[in-house]
Amino acid sequence: MSVLFQTGKYFLRKSYSYSFCKYVLLRKKSDVPRKFITFDEIVAQRRAEARRSLVVQVNSESSFDELYGYCSKYSSIKDVYHYKNSGEEHFMLIEFSSEDNLQSILQSCCSHQKDLEVMAVQSPFVWFRASDAKEKLTANGLELRVKDGNNKYSEDVLFDDLMKCQTVSEQIQMLYDKTILNDVGARLRYMVARQLEVILSSLYTNIQVLPFGSSVNGFGKMGCDLDLVLTNSLTDEMMSPSNRLVYQEKRSDSSRGPWQRHMELVGALLELRVPGAARVQRILNARVPIVKYSQELVDVDVDLCFNNMSGVHMSSLLYALGSLVPAGPALAVTVRRWAAAVQLTQPHPGRWITNFPLTLMVLFFLMTQKILPTFRRLIECAGKQDVRVTEDNINCTFVRDLSRLPPHSYQPSSDNLQTLLLKFFEFYSQFDFQEHAISVIEGKPIRKPNTLPLYIVNPLEPALNVSRNVSYEECERLKMEVRNAAWHLEACLDNNQADDWGILGLVEKKTTRGLKKLLRAGNQQRLVSVKDLFKDDQPETTPGSDRE
Ligand code: GTP
Ligand code: MG
Repeated sequence: MSVLFQTGKYFLRKSYSYSFCKYVLLRKKSDVPRKFITFDEIVAQRRAEARRSLVVQVNSESSFDELYGYCSKYSSIKDVYHYKNSGEEHFMLIEFSSEDNLQSILQSCCSHQKDLEVMAVQSPFVWFRASDAKEKLTANGLELRVKDGNNKYSEDVLFDDLMKCQTVSEQIQMLYDKTILNDVGARLRYMVARQLEVILSSLYTNIQVLPFGSSVNGFGKMGCDLDLVLTNSLTDEMMSPSNRLVYQEKRSDSSRGPWQRHMELVGALLELRVPGAARVQRILNARVPIVKYSQELVDVDVDLCFNNMSGVHMSSLLYALGSLVPAGPALAVTVRRWAAAVQLTQPHPGRWITNFPLTLMVLFFLMTQKILPTFRRLIECAGKQDVRVTEDNINCTFVRDLSRLPPHSYQPSSDNLQTLLLKFFEFYSQFDFQEHAISVIEGKPIRKPNTLPLYIVNPLEPALNVSRNVSYEECERLKMEVRNAAWHLEACLDNNQADDWGILGLVEKKTTRGLKKLLRAGNQQRLVSVKDLFKDDQPETTPGSDRE
């Protein structure tokens, strides 16, 4: 759903289905330069929202009146969103008007007194105790605006809706709108980051916990995993030479060992001190040590690493390219969905491609069509304010504010989504994977530096191949599946009556489709819902490869 407002020179589109409810300023007919909201601005806005928000577990959706009445006695409330987790527990995400408001409500919170098994912890996740008080609290006629805000769109309903579309382009747009991470999903992910930041800040001064990956790059779906990085954000003021009192600090050597131990400590803290954190796993021997856990209060799987800022800059790059051409995210969502359906991607890591390199393949294709500028162009247009070099010396400098790109760096496509998707599959059907590498730096195929079956250049570390884990067999399967997809799309241009017409034949798992046919043939008594049969078989993605 999207709404257009006019504000001064610009049309402002508030797109509720966009991953972080981003506001996109559209170009007016008079060709006023387009104004972009940068990744850094979105992140700052989301972090500020999280600092003035609280997640409250409640009995049910009908607790809204009472909770609103109780909290508004202390503070002024901006918005309240409702959601359920997979345990069918109900939660309200409350955004207060200011951070100070949140402080006053936090002072009214208490812990499980007298319970010796519980060590108190302050975090933005609380619960609302039932009360015998006679006082009737109400929200004074205000209504809960969002219900079930974090729920995924039902797969059965989605496929029925796709069936009813008139064109393949409409199907692609619908798939994007119904499955992309929504505003509540994005807010909750920043709350998970905020919770860690609050709990860890007593041990690590000025720690920042930043989301990266598909939760923030504009390509994530509802329910995608949450990638987080713990990083140290020392301000200039803190490092000023005029300050004469300096903290005594522990120095660790620059090898991986100390970082592994920090991650071990964080793993223990997750188990002992972070409400909702469960199933903590430490993967400490990877190139970037990570700790995985599930945050059950929000229903999200988290991958946490230390100081790996290049992931955040990569997200900023993907976000920038995605916001430049809306067709990009729509195509990428369809391609990622197709790859999961034909099992090119898998729920666990292995010798197959993952969502991140697939997204680079989509962006690369759009660059070859001149619809997107190359990454080299973004580097050339960078100013002083764009310089970013990570602690491990990775240069992540490129222009962030895309309104500074010179005109004609890219051209709007005259093709609709259907044509672009077909061209995407045809392009890779003919791509010479044996000789060529995919490089979004150059935006054209380059000669492969080695004989690995699939070579996709990491734009921030050009010496690395982000798909170096992909085996020969998996690369062959990729080549076969892009050809099949191109044939399928070409065939359905003449026939949109078939029950797998358009992208249905690409994004619905073949087994699911077979069972649906059975259902339609009247076997409802035996099979209640196709979705129920695949509860444990949701296509997900796997962590990256050149990081291992
Ligand atoms: P999904 O989690 O599958 O929705 O997609 P994702 O884009 O979040 O991918 P993933 O969780 O695997 O990785 C998170 C982020 O880490 C990516 O968006 C990239 O920024 C970065 N990343 C992933 N794989 C690689 C890789 O192979 N090399 C490098 N350098 N970075 C990677
Ligand atoms: Mg991810």
